[in-house]
Amino acid sequence: MIDTHIHLDEEAYAADLEEVITRQREAGVEAMIIPGVNAASVEPVLAIARQHPGYCYPALGFHPQDVKTDWKEQWTIIEQAIRTHMDEIVAIGEIGLDYYWDTTFKAEQHEVFRLQLALAQELDLPVMIHNREATEDTLKILKEYPLRGVMHCFNGSKETAQQILNMGFYLGIGGVLTFKNCKLADTLFELNEWAITNDQSPITNRLLLETDGPYLAPTPHRGERNESRLMILVAERLAQVYNCSVEQVIETTSRNAKALFRIK
Ligand code: NI
Repeated sequence: MIDTHIHLDEEAYAADLEEVITRQREAGVEAMIIPGVNAASVEPVLAIARQHPGYCYPALGFHPQDVKTDWKEQWTIIEQAIRTHMDEIVAIGEIGLDYYWDTTFKAEQHEVFRLQLALAQELDLPVMIHNREATEDTLKILKEYPLRGVMHCFNGSKETAQQILNMGFYLGIGGVLTFKNCKLADTLFELNEWAITNDQSPITNRLLLETDGPYLAPTPHRGERNESRLMILVAERLAQVYNCSVEQVIETTSRNAKALFRIK
């Protein structure tokens, strides 16, 4: 299993980070990708990845929730870091739009999102997209910048998924899939038929596993600190949905992650 999205630099892991990483290795997690969210996360993300070469991979980006009045100062630092470390990072992320908590800086979020998409095009890097309550604008802007990437923590409709897949993007699937009353499993099942007709390829070829740790731990660990090894519960649920083996889910999603992020 490859965890394509875990915030290992967050406070929740600070006290026992090395034990956490060792535990994931022992549980068979093959690699982890750590996204950046703001200027302050640049150095911690790079440092953790450097301490675990070939296992923890860094991404750098400016998360929409961190776009505030000081966004220009932050962007200067983040852009410089992305350019300096373009060979070290595996993606620009996490980036996108978030209207859930606050829309005060909506215009600035759009500008920062566009700047990062243009930079990803220039540097030929994939993007990790965060979208919360902003699907229409996210897709509209993304379509202006042909890129490869992943819609992180996907939990949208079949129609939204089809637009994302038509852009060549992957869907990041995490603990939400295991939550009670979540419609995502039905959506992913219905999408498979569409994908086979449309792409001549099963939908699993377009899925990635992720945690979004420390958040969104799968059932029955909901509310606890998330760890990559718990993705097995997500893989098991996907195997149920597609009536295949867990091994097949793991093998396919790992292959997808390696292809998108160009890791070995
Ligand atoms: Ni995240």
